[in-house]
Order: sequence, then C-alpha cells, then structure tokens
Amino acid sequence: MPDTSQARVLVVGDVMLDRYWFGEVSRISPEAPVPVVKVQRTEERPGGAANVARNARALGARVTLLSVVGTDEAGRALEHLLASSGIDTSLLEDPELDTTVKLRVIGRQQQLLRVDFETWPNHEVLQSKLAEFEARLNGTDVVILSDYGKGGLTHITEMIRLARAAGKLVLVDPKGDDYVRYSGATLLTPNRAELRQVTGTWRDEDDLAQRAGRLRRELRLDALLLTRSEEGMTLFREEGSTHVPASAREVFDVSGAGDTVIATLAVMLASGVGVVDAMRIANHAAGIVVGKLGTAVVELDELRT
Ligand SMILES: Nc1ncnc2c1ncn2[C@@H]1O[C@H](COP(=O)(O)OP(=O)(O)OP(=O)(O)O)[C@@H](O)[C@H]1O
Ligand SMILES: [Mg+2]
Repeated sequence: MPDTSQARVLVVGDVMLDRYWFGEVSRISPEAPVPVVKVQRTEERPGGAANVARNARALGARVTLLSVVGTDEAGRALEHLLASSGIDTSLLEDPELDTTVKLRVIGRQQQLLRVDFETWPNHEVLQSKLAEFEARLNGTDVVILSDYGKGGLTHITEMIRLARAAGKLVLVDPKGDDYVRYSGATLLTPNRAELRQVTGTWRDEDDLAQRAGRLRRELRLDALLLTRSEEGMTLFREEGSTHVPASAREVFDVSGAGDTVIATLAVMLASGVGVVDAMRIANHAAGIVVGKLGTAVVELDELRT
C-alpha cells in the first residue's frame, strides 16, 4: 500500500444527512390505516459528498470538503458530525435552503418509510462556492465532484475547467442524463443504471465497450469507470478496457459502495498509484464496505490485509 499521508483530496458536491429512527410497532393508528412507530433510538451519519470525504479521510489522506447547507438544525447536525472527523470542512450556509435529509423510519427490523427533505441552493451562495473552489485548488492533488443531483454542482463545468487548467485530476460521480456538463473531466464513475441512462442498453460486452468509448471521446475523458455491483467494475480507456470481478465475500449493505470507490480511487491516484492499480484497490475497498452495515468506511489497515 502506498503512503497516503501526503495525498490532498478536495471533495465538492451535495452533502446530506442520513438519519435513522428505530422504533417499536405495536398498534395501528386510529387516524389512518398505518402503523404507529414509537421511536426508541436515533442515528445520524454524514451522507453524499460528506460520506465520500469520510472515506477518503479514513484512507489517511488530507481531505477538504466544500458544500452548501441550510441555516437549520440538520445543517448544524452535519457540521457537528464532521467537526471531529479530521476533515477540513467548509459548509457555506444558504438561509433559504433546506439541508438535504434522508430520514428512514425503521420498525420490526424493516424500513417502513423514507422521508426526504431537499430544496435547490440559491445562486449567490453557489457563486461564492465557485470562488472558494478556485481558491482551494492550489493545495489539492485530486478533485472529487460528487453529484447527487441536488443542485450543489450547478457550476460543475466551470469547476472542471478551472481544475484541469490548474493541472489537477478531476473524478466525477455522475447523476442524471446531462453528461455534457462533465466534459473535460479526467474520469467518471457511473453505475450500470446511470450509464444506461445516457448510452442506452447494451446488448453484450462488445456493444458496451463501443458505447462507453463513444461517450468517453465525446466528453474528452481520460477514462470511464463503470461500477457493476456484483459484477465488479470495468475501466474504459483509449488503450482498451480492463475488468475486475467483485471481491466481496459477504454482502450486508451495498449503500455507499459508490462513495467508497471514488474516494479510494482519488486517494490512490493522489498517492502516485497508476489508474489500473487504483481501480483494483478501489474494487477491493468496495468489497469490504458492502460487508458492513450502513454507509460505512474502510480503513487503510483493512486494505493492507
Ligand atoms: N452485491 C455486490 N457484491 C459484490 N460487490 C459489490 C456489490 N455491490 C457493490 N459491490 C462493489 O461496490 C462497487 C460499487 O457498487 P455499485 O456499482 O453498486 O455502485 P453504486 O450504485 O454507485 O453504489 P451506491 O450508489 O449504492 O453507493 C462495485 O463495483 C463492487 O466492487
Ligand atoms: Mg453511486
């Protein structure tokens, strides 16, 4: 394993608060035919781009997180959770924004309901975020743009341009069907559904390689990394494609595996590892993280063994 302590990673994107309410269900509501959950325990974790930052930090890198939150209780909770994480966190406040929260209500060991809070950030805050992004590029090796489609990356095309002009590697976890905005990035990490949304369904591996190649050239990317859940991942480059099968032994919870992949790639690339080896290590890390409950992280020590 390389020395990651000098790797500097800047994570920008949509942060969110993952909130869990665990309770007991013993009756049906008299108000409507729904269960009543008596909450016994709550849990909170940083999600989205904040989970990416946590993953990069767990691998020993120096991590900066830049994002936008609302002036609300959830924003303060996120700030508090990140305060002791060792991540240099800059959360700009938009008083009109509702911090993104995904609240899960869990009773009888199963998720009964998910409640989402989110709104679009306003223009001026995003503009000042762009200015801060530019200012922070200097002390960075690799930039991660973690797009969860919540509006925090409205200026992503400009961010990619600035970072590339400064000679930085730019990794993007994409969302949605407009990939033109990712033009000029170094590498994209779509999952199967995300890629299918922009290239259409592929018939076989040859067809996939052609569709991936076309997209890669159109967007002027160095590489496209398709993460394929239980099928592992495939890296498409000018030189051809490289596939690694999934390495997981036990699968408990696949949520957040994509965050671990892009974080590991970034830390390895920033530590001087080549892209194919970085992919293998990222695949190994993802195989470990799906064996853990919730949006978890992988430590450097776990990767060594
Ligand atoms: N069921 C699985 N079995 C084995 N490995 C898995 C499984 N699911 C995910 N992985 C590992 O995690 C990597 C990323 O998973 P996936 O392609 O599902 O990304 P994702 O959809 O972006 O994840 P998420 O959005 O839940 O964070 C895979 O390339 C693989 O290495
Ligand atoms: Mg994903």
